[in-house]
Amino acid sequence: MKKLRVGIVGMGMGRHHAKDLHSHSRSDLVAIVDADESRLEESAGQFPESQQYTDYEKMLAEQDLDMVVLAIPNFLHKPFAIAALEAGCHVLCEKPMAMNTAEAEEMLAVARKSDRRLMINFSYRFTGAAHALKQAVDAGVLGDVYYGRTGWLRRDGMPGFGGWFGQKNKSGGGPLIDLGVHKIDLALWLMGYPSPEWILARTYDHLGKARAEGLGKDFDVEDFAAALVTFDNGATLDVTVSWASHIKEKELMETRILGTKGGVVHRNINEGYEFEGEIFTDFNGVPSNIQPQPRGCPLGSSMTHFVDCILDDKPHIATGEEGATLMRILDAIYESAASREPVRVGRGS
Ligand SMILES: NC(=O)c1ccc[n+]([C@@H]2O[C@H](COP(=O)([O-])OP(=O)(O)OC[C@H]3O[C@@H](n4cnc5c(N)ncnc54)[C@H](O)[C@@H]3O)[C@@H](O)[C@H]2O)c1
Repeated sequence: MKKLRVGIVGMGMGRHHAKDLHSHSRSDLVAIVDADESRLEESAGQFPESQQYTDYEKMLAEQDLDMVVLAIPNFLHKPFAIAALEAGCHVLCEKPMAMNTAEAEEMLAVARKSDRRLMINFSYRFTGAAHALKQAVDAGVLGDVYYGRTGWLRRDGMPGFGGWFGQKNKSGGGPLIDLGVHKIDLALWLMGYPSPEWILARTYDHLGKARAEGLGKDFDVEDFAAALVTFDNGATLDVTVSWASHIKEKELMETRILGTKGGVVHRNINEGYEFEGEIFTDFNGVPSNIQPQPRGCPLGSSMTHFVDCILDDKPHIATGEEGATLMRILDAIYESAASREPVRVGRGS
């Protein structure tokens, strides 16, 4: 059986991806990379048969890889993706695709030129609940979609406070680009990825900034964002995200889509990382609720899905093109927040 030769860069989130690919029967975890030797060593114990590198370029030069997974800080996504694509590898890049639209477009252009695949790790599509809702939506349960509301609010969850996540030149932004990117993608996926038109948005940094000043840490991104997105098909999407906000819940994730015939909701259970979906419709004139009971996601994880699609020569979901659409929305949200004006979303290539 042909197996894909995979290398993974970044042993933070990347450790979970490594586990996934290590246990998949169709991939060989050939190499792992982290610039931080102690992190690399921690992972080396788990994947002793993989070659370890602190230098990404060295791995690309020495290993004949089919696929590279990028789980590194956001400012490295573009250069690392381009290097892998040019070395002939398919790339599964963590979200957000890049720091901004210009970078995302560059990545797409290189992927097209190199005839390699580019997938973005919109992992929340790969929950059983999201998949079941998508199947129902594709079967027409919603009718014409006109509204979505999507958000991820944390009471107090600023990742690695004082580190790269809170520095705009390394992350591109705060919870909007970190958490919002997932939840906007999930909403757009369920809405059929309509073309975004206008944005009106605001961002805030009250809690994060005060904490950073108190602790003497770097923090120049938002801790809360609110945005309204309109689409060329007339639909609207309401977005709210926070790393810190005065709410009861630790983590509150909810994506709701409304259509002429029905509505769906995807939400987390007990403030954690388990999910459920629900469908609301009129059945013979009677308001009815349906709660799918999926047994996992038939696509597998985002990692194994990408491997399987490459080997089976099938299209993968969560494409680079969708990642770039997301970047156009995020850029326009930040622009609207900065200018305090509505912003027209840029057109993609
Ligand atoms: N899909 C998801 O649900 C999800 C969850 C968490 C993080 N992420 C994304 O994954 C990426 C990484 O986030 P994280 O939480 O793992 O961050 P992290 O800081 O914990 O880990 C990043 C790792 O990259 C390594 N690194 C940095 N520069 C490097 C270089 N030049 N060469 C090799 N290694 C280098 C660091 O040493 C570190 O171990 C981000 O883009 C983040 O948005 C996605």
